[in-house]
Amino acid sequence: MDRQDSTKVNVDGVRGFGLRNVSSHASISEMDDFDLSKLLDKPRLNIERKRSFDERSLSELSIGLTRGLENYESTYSPGRSVLDTPASSARNSFEPHPIVADAWEALRRSLVHFRDQPVGTIAAYDHASEEVLNYDQVFVRDFVPSALAFLMNGEPDIVKNFLLKTLQLQAWEKKIDRFKLGEGVMPASFKVLHDPVRKTDTIVADFGESAIGRVAPVDSGFWWIILLRAYTKSTGDLSLAEKPECQKGIKLIMTMCLSEGFDTFPTLLCADGCSMIDRRMGIYGYPIEIQALFFMSLRCALALLKHDEEGNEFIERIVKRLHALSYHMRNYFWLDFQQLNDIYRYKTEEYSHTAVNKFNVIPDSIPEWVFDFMPMRGGYFIGNVSPARMDFRWFALGNCIAILSCLATPEQASAIMDLIEERWEELVGEMPLKICYPAIESHEWRIVTGCDPKNTRWSYHNGGSWPVLLWLLTAACIKTGRIQIARRAIDLAESRLLKDGWPEYYDGTSGRYVGKQARKFQTWSIAGYLVSKMMLEDPSHLGMISLEVDKQMKPVMKRSSSWTC
Ligand code: GLC
Repeated sequence: MDRQDSTKVNVDGVRGFGLRNVSSHASISEMDDFDLSKLLDKPRLNIERKRSFDERSLSELSIGLTRGLENYESTYSPGRSVLDTPASSARNSFEPHPIVADAWEALRRSLVHFRDQPVGTIAAYDHASEEVLNYDQVFVRDFVPSALAFLMNGEPDIVKNFLLKTLQLQAWEKKIDRFKLGEGVMPASFKVLHDPVRKTDTIVADFGESAIGRVAPVDSGFWWIILLRAYTKSTGDLSLAEKPECQKGIKLIMTMCLSEGFDTFPTLLCADGCSMIDRRMGIYGYPIEIQALFFMSLRCALALLKHDEEGNEFIERIVKRLHALSYHMRNYFWLDFQQLNDIYRYKTEEYSHTAVNKFNVIPDSIPEWVFDFMPMRGGYFIGNVSPARMDFRWFALGNCIAILSCLATPEQASAIMDLIEERWEELVGEMPLKICYPAIESHEWRIVTGCDPKNTRWSYHNGGSWPVLLWLLTAACIKTGRIQIARRAIDLAESRLLKDGWPEYYDGTSGRYVGKQARKFQTWSIAGYLVSKMMLEDPSHLGMISLEVDKQMKPVMKRSSSWTC
């Protein structure tokens, strides 16, 4: 849609891009929950009634978004393109922030085409960097914020092309040396090769067989399902998700993570470096990022799967897993002051089902820093839980996804936001947002990272600050009604991102320095910023990436939420 078109439909008060057919997807059971669709079917608001987001009170917003539909009208502003009617987060101003236009231009420069169709965005458009490595590829996880930006801007086609292209790649036979990978594995990244002589385009994909360290992209399949739901929610176009090949793609991913084995926990067992942190960082086992994405993709799959015979079998297995997974996560991964105090006083060597210290965690293994870090108000899902091991580190992505997917109960979600507020210096500092906290150093760094020179303390994956995480933080803020937190974070990012050339990450205890080996013009830093701005300007966009509390899961939640005791 071009500028003029979208302006026109906006003045008409009709959301031209996307939600026109929105009523058709009300049949997706989960999507009834948040029910923006119903709202958007209501007579459109008179444009004069539309108030600036900044004028609205926080409570109004939180009620509108999380509790009831009645108040939503006052918080709903008709969707619009950032290029058309950009609004600034600057108070009382309707002027776009000057860097928004630059960001769009940079995002468009990163587009990758396959046979003249846009199919994704490259990870970084950094010509100054000596080593390209694989930053010239389309990464599945990196494309998510780009996709959301395009969806929010009324340009769903690229997202559809990407979803179909990656689906084709999933169908490839995937091998590492002589070992065949699971059928459902989605690539970490792909590259389009243009042959100017033959005028042909071909694709090469990486499922881990070329990746540094041969890490497995476990998160790719989850992001793919989450994005398919975002596309469906945003456009109202059910036909894509209902295609037999899409249904098959979802089922293949589900088959891999729902298979029965030796596991004693409902969480998903993973090797190190299998997600955004794609290097050895001591996150093997049951990392929070994967568990939260797993949970969210199970819920999205539930919404997208057709209720035919085969679909119903999957649905049944998914529902069972969701119950077990939410129970496990909410009880054993949750840490707040009370819980920490309980663990500190744990007895060990308890046998049988009456054990309180189920995983036999030795209190001496609790790191010193966590006692100071834990505020009286607040809490979070810790990094990992397995026998005799609790990784107390705080990870941004997993905690934000826990909020957006409702893996976190409403109380836990607000506690996570409280923690961010209470530990602002540590977690946000001068550039949102720390990928994890704290950094590991010295002997521990040697052992845990294998002396990784890229992951030295407070750099890159080891306590570095990643601008891309801003969109997740903003979404979590909107969901919990804590807009001021998002505003503060966006203001910080805005003051530096363009000036610094959209770096991939920042270094230092407060994220003040552009990362040592950070790429410039890192696409997801650019797209993440745009998505944050658009969501803040029009919170109805949140529905694409946020799920409502599943009514069916409530009774289980009550029984399992011992953390409130
Ligand atoms: C780095 C990041 C990874 C990202 C990739 C491309 O490897 O750790 O999360 O997908 O760069 O930007």
